[in-house]
This record gives sequence, C-alpha cells and structure tokens, in this order.
Amino acid sequence: MHKDQQLLLLLFLLFLLLPQSFSIPIENNRCTTSCGEIANISYPFRLKGDEEVCGDPNYELAYVNNRTVLDLYSSQYHVSFIDYTNYTIRVVDVELQKGNCSSLPLHSLSCSSFLNDKSNLYKCGGYWYNDRELSKTVSIVNCTKAVASQLYIDASSCLDGVEFSKFSGTRRQLYAMVDANVSNMESACTIEHMAMIPGWADGDNLRSYAQIHDLMVYGFELSWLPIACKKYCRHYFVCDINDKHQIQCSAKNGNNF
Ligand SMILES: *[C@@H]1O[C@H](CO)[C@@H](O)[C@H](O)[C@H]1NC(C)=O
Ligand SMILES: *[C@@H]1O[C@H](CO)[C@@H](O)[C@H](O)[C@H]1NC(C)=O
Ligand SMILES: *[C@@H]1O[C@H](CO)[C@@H](O)[C@H](O)[C@H]1NC(C)=O
Ligand SMILES: *[C@@H]1O[C@H](CO)[C@@H](O)[C@H](O)[C@H]1NC(C)=O
Ligand SMILES: *[C@@H]1O[C@H](CO)[C@@H](O)[C@H](O)[C@H]1NC(C)=O
Ligand SMILES: *[C@@H]1O[C@H](CO)[C@@H](O)[C@H](O)[C@H]1NC(C)=O
Repeated sequence: MHKDQQLLLLLFLLFLLLPQSFSIPIENNRCTTSCGEIANISYPFRLKGDEEVCGDPNYELAYVNNRTVLDLYSSQYHVSFIDYTNYTIRVVDVELQKGNCSSLPLHSLSCSSFLNDKSNLYKCGGYWYNDRELSKTVSIVNCTKAVASQLYIDASSCLDGVEFSKFSGTRRQLYAMVDANVSNMESACTIEHMAMIPGWADGDNLRSYAQIHDLMVYGFELSWLPIACKKYCRHYFVCDINDKHQIQCSAKNGNNF
C-alpha cells in the first residue's frame, strides 16, 4: 500500500471511531467510580467533590488516604464493602484498631440512632425475607458489683484504662452485652457506651470481649433501602426487598404491587 493510502485509511478509521468516543456522556467522567478497596461507587453514593449529577448529596462519601470514609452522626467510618444487590454498606468506626481491644469508637452508636433519625437515610433493622437484623448493638456497661451471667462478657482487662467520661476513675466492673434490653439489665449496672457488630453475630456464642472486638473491627451493615423505596414506591406504601432482592411496594392493606 502507498504511504498516502495508508494515511487515508487511518483517517477513515479514526473518523469511524470518533462519534462513539463523543457519545460517552461527559458527566460520567466527572464521577469518581472507585476509591481504594471500594471498586464500585455508584448511585446513591458519590464522592465529596464530585458533580451534582453523581449520586445523591445525602449519600456522600469521602476519599481519605486511599480509603472510603462515611461521616455519620459526627463519627467517621471506613467503608469496607458496598453491595448494590442487597442495598447494604458495611462500615467500621475509624477509631477501632485491629488487635487492640482497648480501642473503641469515640461516640456511641446503636440501632436506635437510626430509628430515631427523621432524615431516614439508613436502616439497621432487617429485611422481611431473612429474619435477622442487619446489625446488633453492643453495650459496654459498668457495674458496682460483679455479675455472673453469660449475657455479661467481662471487658475489664481491655477497657479498664479507657475513660468514658470525666467521672470514670473509680473502680468499675466493665462488661459487654449484646442486644441488651431493660429486662436483662442489672440495676447495679449502667450503660457507658454503645457500638455495633454484624447482625449475623450470635450473641449466645460470644464468650470473650476479644471476639466482640473482632466483630466491631469487621464492621456492621446498614441499608440505604429508604432512598430506593422513596424512589420506587410512594410514601404511603410500605416497602422492602424480597428474597430475589427486588423492591416490593405494598399498600398498608397488604396488597403487593
Ligand atoms: C489503594 O487501595 C487499593 C485497594 O486496596 C490498592 O490496590 C492500591 O495499591 C492503593 N493505592 C495506594 C496509592 O496506596
Ligand atoms: C456498579 O454497580 C452498579 C449498581 O449495581 C451497576 O449498575 C454497575 O454496572 C457497576 N459497575 C461496575 C463497574 O461494576
Ligand atoms: C448483602 O450482601 C453482602 C455480600 O454479598 C453480604 O455480606 C451481606 O450479608 C448481605 N446482607 C444482607 C442483609 O443480605
Ligand atoms: C490501643 O488503643 C488505645 C485506645 O485507643 C490506645 O490508647 C493505645 O495506645 C492503643 N495501643 C496500641 C498498642 O496501639
Ligand atoms: C458508671 O459510670 C458512670 C460514669 O463514669 C457513673 O456516673 C455511674 O455512677 C457508674 N455507675 C455505676 C453503677 O457504677
Ligand atoms: C431481652 O433479652 C433477653 C435475653 O437476651 C430475651 O430473652 C428477651 O426476649 C429480651 N426482651 C425484650 C423485651 O426484648
């Protein structure tokens, strides 16, 4: 082939390819799609600094030292996993250090924090199709006397030096309780702090505080189903996902749509 013909052919091929490269929406290029170990950042999430069109402003994540960080109730959480099929995000409080059972989240967090939050961005309770909650709450309690019960897991050796408030300092018996409630709380004990562990954790099989701490470091799940529901079902419907992870809107009288 002659040199000029080769050049013409090349130009012709370029001409064929150009319209395709122009058809890619420019907005896509301005949305960060991955961040550290999180390989897929897409709606409703977006990264701080991204364009308005990327995700929902209420579900903004930050990029800090090659990690994805979620700000929630004045605490920061490392995002360790996002699952778009079941609408869950798994997060770990940034204060928690693997293998250091003295490390605790700075601020308390429990499932009721989400129930009481009017902005309704995340939920912590379970889905209809599986009867477990997404996350469980661990309460750190101080007691004026020793409590001999499997529900009270001794945490003193890990947390003795940890200050919970300006009053701490007197001798305390510290225990961790999974899903504590009024009926299993001893009157000698008060809740000092609350943290979250995965919902699949079996409270009956947890024997040591180190095990509980490992679960805190693994992280807990939250669901952003509320925004998906707002989008797909009208507010007067109850909404959830089924076992095939499809969103189901049902009227309050129980009819499915
Ligand atoms: C960022 O994190 C990813 C995934 O963990 C890793 O593959 C990559 O090497 C990291 N980059 C830097 C600059 O540390
Ligand atoms: C990221 O997740 C979204 C939502 O599930 C999906 O539509 C998209 O194809 C995924 N992108 C990549 C690169 O995996
Ligand atoms: C959602 O999917 C992830 C990964 O597949 C899994 O770890 C998690 O337990 C699932 N959550 C629910 C509530 O099904
Ligand atoms: C373990 O965590 C505690 C509380 O955050 C901290 O004071 C201590 O320095 C940590 N220990 C190590 C070895 O990092
Ligand atoms: C638990 O600790 C708090 C704050 O340190 C203190 O006010 C409270 O009296 C303690 N409760 C018991 C039962 O010791
Ligand atoms: C309180 O916890 C105990 C033991 O974990 C459980 O058997 C009981 O059903 C719970 N009560 C309430 C009201 O949740």
